[in-house]
Amino acid sequence: MKHIKVIGSINMDIILSSARLPVTGETIKADKYYMYPGGKGANQAVAVARTGVRPQLIGKLGNDYFAEMITTYLKKENIDLSLTYGDKTGIAMINVESSGKNMITVYPGSNGSMAYDDFHDINIKNSIVMFQQEIPLKTIRDFISNIAGNGNMIITDPSPFNEDRYILENTDILTPNENEAQLLAGCNIKNVEDAKKASRIILEKYKSNVIIKLGDNGSLINYEGNIKYFKPYKVGTVDTTGAGDCFNGAFASEFLRTESIDKSMEFANIAGALSTTGYGAFPSFPYRNQIISIMEE
Ligand code: RIB
Repeated sequence: MKHIKVIGSINMDIILSSARLPVTGETIKADKYYMYPGGKGANQAVAVARTGVRPQLIGKLGNDYFAEMITTYLKKENIDLSLTYGDKTGIAMINVESSGKNMITVYPGSNGSMAYDDFHDINIKNSIVMFQQEIPLKTIRDFISNIAGNGNMIITDPSPFNEDRYILENTDILTPNENEAQLLAGCNIKNVEDAKKASRIILEKYKSNVIIKLGDNGSLINYEGNIKYFKPYKVGTVDTTGAGDCFNGAFASEFLRTESIDKSMEFANIAGALSTTGYGAFPSFPYRNQIISIMEE
């Protein structure tokens, strides 16, 4: 494989940090405020770019001020942009508390009307193709049915969760987090052994390899029945927003380079952890040299 194509959402993230998250009906004071581009598609593309591979990001923005800001940011990250435009750019309101936990409300805006037909002339072959589920599921199905074969490897993050069997069964590697893995497998995950069991059920049920991202408990992969667990890389977590996206982007870029599942998992495991050490999604995503120097320690 020669290229990485990320097909997915682009948002403007508005981040409010407070000592704790508000409860229903409550107004609380935030102590910090940030505004950065985000969206699972854009985040994955930035993670790919920062870890050394120039990706193509295929997505849809609005016709507004946020679209201009986001475009400027993403061009600086050395991402090849293939965009169409709708009415409003997607927005995510993110509340973060001091433990690093967050609550996110997403208004999809133009992401919600992204269609395969607007991009059907894009050539997708010999590529790692990365999906998440913040654009219409039909659009993902249309892309998959048109690009299957052609030497492509499909990685799908089933987030936000939706059990679309066509997508799940036509993906080479699924990358759920712990909650999504529980929903896919239909069992509880309380420890690493449970996660291994869930990975076996997912592989059997959807015939797709699976990486389960376990947050501060590390990650594991079940690739063609071979299961390997990766311990967490311990950091001081500030904000977990986008950590899963960073993991996916780092995994894809290292796999493109090395074709080694083990090396790519180790690389992504560290990248995801490092991404939690700052506020927002991609401002805190690490560069390749940071990850490599930790791997060499
Ligand atoms: O995965 C994190 C992302 O989810 C944020 O950047 C936000 O935009 C939401 O889409």
